[in-house]
Amino acid sequence: MNTHARSDEPAVLHKIAEIDVPGAESIVGRVRRHLADKLAELLGEDSEIAAETVLLADELIANAIRHTRSGEQGLVRVSVCLLEGRVLRVSVRDEGHDTNRPRLGEASLDDVSGRGLMMVDQISTRWGVIANAEQAGSTVWFERALGMP
Ligand SMILES: Nc1ncnc2c1ncn2[C@@H]1O[C@H](COP(=O)(O)OP(=O)(O)OP(=O)(O)O)[C@@H](O)[C@H]1O
Ligand SMILES: [Mg+2]
Repeated sequence: MNTHARSDEPAVLHKIAEIDVPGAESIVGRVRRHLADKLAELLGEDSEIAAETVLLADELIANAIRHTRSGEQGLVRVSVCLLEGRVLRVSVRDEGHDTNRPRLGEASLDDVSGRGLMMVDQISTRWGVIANAEQAGSTVWFERALGMP
């Protein structure tokens, strides 16, 4: 029997967390705590990767609330998966906006905002944006390889 994974086989995907929450600042602390607990179960307490992952997830959740209809009594869906046992993938799905689209800023040292996605870009292994299939809005995702220091 051939036990080697073939490239045309689907990735082994293990769901760590998936929650739909109201797009309100007041809920963000509880979401952070939930993600931190789930990642601690997986990676142990005091994991730097877990701390970084929560920090970046927080940026994407803040964006969904601030820049899309999710923050106008809509919902945000936050999912965390483990791919092939070695890459964490966080996805944050929003309800979209008439004009705003996720875009990597070019904040200078003096600018007071515009660094959220720059931070995701710098710290994550890779990230991207997917247009939601069934409704307006996007799902912004990032991955963090577990093997990296
Ligand atoms: N989920 C999203 N949907 C629509 N537009 C978005 C979304 N996320 C970000 N954007 C757009 O991309 C821009 C850059 O986002 P980024 O997080 O880098 O900066 P910011 O949110 O403006 O400031 P900061 O994160 O530093 O508080 C935002 O100003 C917004 O216009
Ligand atoms: Mg932001």
